[in-house]
Amino acid sequence: MPQTPDAAPDHTPQTAPAPQGPDQTDRVIIAAAEELGIGCPCDVVVVDDATGELTAFALDAVADHADAVVLSWTSSLTRAAALQERFAEQIDAGRLRVPAGPGVTPLEQAAAEVEGHLMVLMRLPKAVHALEDRARRLAEAVRGSGQNGLEIVAGGRVKHMTRAQNEALGTLFDEVRASRGIGKSRALIATDLREQATAPAAAESSALLTVRGEPRELALRGIGAVFGGAGADAGSLLLLDALDRALTAGELGAPEAPLRAAADLGCGNGLMTAYLAAALPETSVLGSDVDADAVGSTRETLAANDLTRENVQVSWDDALSGLDAESLDLVLLNPPFHDGTTVDATLVQGLLDSAARVLRPGGQLWFVHNSHLRYRTEVERRVGDVEQRARDRRFTVLRAIR
Ligand SMILES: C[S@@+](CC[C@H](N)C(=O)[O-])C[C@H]1O[C@@H](n2cnc3c(N)ncnc32)[C@H](O)[C@@H]1O
Repeated sequence: MPQTPDAAPDHTPQTAPAPQGPDQTDRVIIAAAEELGIGCPCDVVVVDDATGELTAFALDAVADHADAVVLSWTSSLTRAAALQERFAEQIDAGRLRVPAGPGVTPLEQAAAEVEGHLMVLMRLPKAVHALEDRARRLAEAVRGSGQNGLEIVAGGRVKHMTRAQNEALGTLFDEVRASRGIGKSRALIATDLREQATAPAAAESSALLTVRGEPRELALRGIGAVFGGAGADAGSLLLLDALDRALTAGELGAPEAPLRAAADLGCGNGLMTAYLAAALPETSVLGSDVDADAVGSTRETLAANDLTRENVQVSWDDALSGLDAESLDLVLLNPPFHDGTTVDATLVQGLLDSAARVLRPGGQLWFVHNSHLRYRTEVERRVGDVEQRARDRRFTVLRAIR
């Protein structure tokens, strides 16, 4: 069989899985699951299915068991929607669950709702802490619901696999071994869940910002595979520094007429959402991301800074699709520029168009990009007049007026 390359890793803008057959990593996961004896009686949980093929395999594997259910949980709203579309029949028949909003169903909550012995099929996330987080949440689900067991089959490209992944699973399971490889992919198989498995916890860090001209330390939280973990992105810090100067200078609404509504499009761990909530107490603030881990992280970041209040919301949404046109005064955007390792300028275009859609005339987009890429013309064409507001060796901050 010809070897298919793997689907794009997480945290790049996500494309809907088309039914193109399993890639090599899917096939190694499927082979290991078959060897382990998938086929029940058990329920199967698929996590972050990049191609839809693990879900298709799981449905097939439990087809002969009338009560068995497959849960396919993914942090990407785009992938969840594509799975819902592809497997609509199985969802209607009650054989498959695919949480896809509008609210986020955390993995531990979704997994706790399926019963019996859980076999989990997943791709290894790039970051070790993300693997540990997923595994801890699954263990939490099993513990919380009194289910009777958990096995994880997690596959990846050998060149991305490290000892640290075995060790992460080894903190929860008594046995962790590697499967036979297929081509350049291999799976880790974790069995014998320990009674005392460590509870999931967000990664923690903090960032020193200037808020309304005053220094303020903001706590940051990162869960799962959120972009940047709990770290502060240097491009976002440059943007916020320039934005705070503009705010202090009265360029974004006078004290007697504060901004009505602002959004952080692609909020990641919530750094910029927390800044907006701290700097603009009277403004409705929305942090929004297509990634459920980002939504969870932003919520935790806001809570850690006592910034949770009625006019500060976080949504799991694709490109602010839930907002009315011309409903915002300010949008902050630190977009993804890479699809895997390749720079892909088209990813930004859709997000710029979305920002243009939701901004009212006269509203402002603050946008940061890598200095070696050229975006000024693109932003001008899609949003409006552009001014450069900050630049260093790595990043450039632009402001566009709708
Ligand atoms: C470069 S990260 C920036 C994260 C965060 N704003 C920060 O400053 O650290 C880009 C974020 O955009 C999110 N994203 C990508 N495509 C999106 C879309 N169509 N709708 C909403 N968010 C998206 C990604 O999940 C990621 O969290």
